[in-house]
Amino acid sequence: MSLYATVVTAMWVMLPAYVPNNAAVLAGGGAPIDGGRTWGGRRILGDGKTYRGTVFGILAGFAVAAALDVLHPAAISALGVSLPWFPFEAMIALPAGAMLGDILASFVKRRTGRERGASFPLLDQLDFVVVALALTAVLDPAWFGDNFTLDVLLAILVLTPLLHLATNGIAYQLGLKDEPW
Ligand code: CTP
Ligand code: MG
Repeated sequence: MSLYATVVTAMWVMLPAYVPNNAAVLAGGGAPIDGGRTWGGRRILGDGKTYRGTVFGILAGFAVAAALDVLHPAAISALGVSLPWFPFEAMIALPAGAMLGDILASFVKRRTGRERGASFPLLDQLDFVVVALALTAVLDPAWFGDNFTLDVLLAILVLTPLLHLATNGIAYQLGLKDEPW
């Protein structure tokens, strides 16, 4: 695959995993998942992980995957890359894995004494990718194997932190997010 095709494919397959975090920022608020409970004197997850944000994030990612399936023929001819089609399992696994990864990262942040909103370089930028990929590999191993080839995985690992920092920086500038990470 050319570098162009690799990058376009990586962005296409990851879009349903990228959108949930940003959608959660827009929808956040309401009851925290941990119900305010603590463990070892610290919040289990913190006020930044809510039911509303999580559900909205997963629905948004699912909707994006469904929309990409509709756009599939048009995108292939416009971009000139043979892009994959999202099966139902991937439509669920990519956004649900992204939200779960973000939640697990908050769990780790609280255990290591970081308050809500504190930065944890690399964990903040890659938590959601790792779990989204892992859940997709479990729910649809054949589709995962066909599409997440080594070059695509490498492109994802390099480009995701940059994209994540850029979108969060924009959300911060727009006043949607309290911190730029
Ligand atoms: N959000 C949410 N539910 C989620 C994820 C995010 O409601 N599952 C919303 C919250 O309003 C959160 C905002 O999106 O404050 C930004 O998300 P994030 O940066 O992940 O949370 P932080 O507030 O920084 O908290 P943490 O330190 O736990 O990451
Ligand atoms: Mg944060």
